[in-house]
Amino acid sequence: MKPLPLTQETEKELFFHNYARLPIALTHGEGCWLVSDDGTRYLDMIAGIGVNALGYGDKRLIDAITRQASRLIHASNLFLLQPQFDLAARLLDISGLSKVFFANSGTEAIEAAIKLSRKRAAMSGRSDKKEILSLSNCFHGRTYGAMSLTAKAKYTDGFDPLLPETGMIAFNDLADLEAKVSEKTAAVFIEIVQGEGGIHCISEAFLLRLAELRDRFDFLIVADEIQAGCGRTGLFFSYMHFAIEPDVVCLAKPLGGGLPLAAVIGSEKMADVFSYGNHGTTFGGNPVACAAGLAMIEAIHADRLMENALKIGAMLKHALEELATRHPQILEIRQFGLMIGITVDKEAKVYVEKALQKQVLVNATSQNVIRLLPPLCISTDEAQRCITVLDEILTEESR
Ligand SMILES: Cc1ncc(COP(=O)(O)O)c(C=O)c1O
Repeated sequence: MKPLPLTQETEKELFFHNYARLPIALTHGEGCWLVSDDGTRYLDMIAGIGVNALGYGDKRLIDAITRQASRLIHASNLFLLQPQFDLAARLLDISGLSKVFFANSGTEAIEAAIKLSRKRAAMSGRSDKKEILSLSNCFHGRTYGAMSLTAKAKYTDGFDPLLPETGMIAFNDLADLEAKVSEKTAAVFIEIVQGEGGIHCISEAFLLRLAELRDRFDFLIVADEIQAGCGRTGLFFSYMHFAIEPDVVCLAKPLGGGLPLAAVIGSEKMADVFSYGNHGTTFGGNPVACAAGLAMIEAIHADRLMENALKIGAMLKHALEELATRHPQILEIRQFGLMIGITVDKEAKVYVEKALQKQVLVNATSQNVIRLLPPLCISTDEAQRCITVLDEILTEESR
């Protein structure tokens, strides 16, 4: 069969219309660069939406995948699988937590965490303890449970009825936190850094009060580390920047080195919540994805990529602040490691399209936020290239 043309028109014919894809057909990648079918090289400041921590073509990752793929691609959770055991042990070692469940995607990790929350509450004997709270402006995924915890109407409109007994606390609002949590609260889901929401960091005061209220009302704190986890903020988990220990942690995106993999990690008190048959998945913890995840974690440590995330993140922030002194279109800059949000004066997609014309891939989120989530291995020169292009397009837009 002749290959179909990779155009936006053919895409419309073939697929449901739920993605707004950029008009480039990618063939491969090298380091922090993606290459399209006409040979054009693009500097990748998106990393597959915060997935490709090691960039493209990392030999250690490719070797781990090919080695495991040649041995065993899939067997299911009916069996004992070495890569799963190794990755689970590594995650428990890093987190100091107690038990792991592997899933395939971020939203599935959130579903498992919702089930853990409700089941634990049910086991406490309180039939009215079912409420799951999240924070305004948050994003937790698109399956029904995760969507029910997600703030923005654009993700939920038209999908009623959502999961009952869910609610929202205003982000970083201590008074609202005090007013909303109660004995009925089974769990509060948080992102330390809201990614899809435009890179907003939770305040220490809010987190510490949340932890105090957890002690009073016996609810769980579930940290959604799906975007911020695996080193992107300079520590392996973003909650580690604060004096707080979550009860449940959700990881996905970079965890499988680009293959679909997610993990739910629970503290000691969660250890016996799920019993046989309570939860499961055919593919979750796929051995190739787990082998890739292990190689990814080893490479992050060996190459000191968390330090690099701190270094390049600070450099980008400094350079963006300098741009803001010359370009009034920049309204605000928020940075946490290599999660960077630039609030601009108009729809961010205008700037995304202009950057694309100059072979730099950036992303728009929350309407007017340009988001940068580059691979953790980005170099100073590559970060500087991104700044130069942003400078050029902001200059052109002001004319
Ligand atoms: C914080 C957060 N939670 C959950 C999700 C959902 O993950 P997935 O798209 O893998 O289902 C995302 C995806 O962007 C996310 O950023």
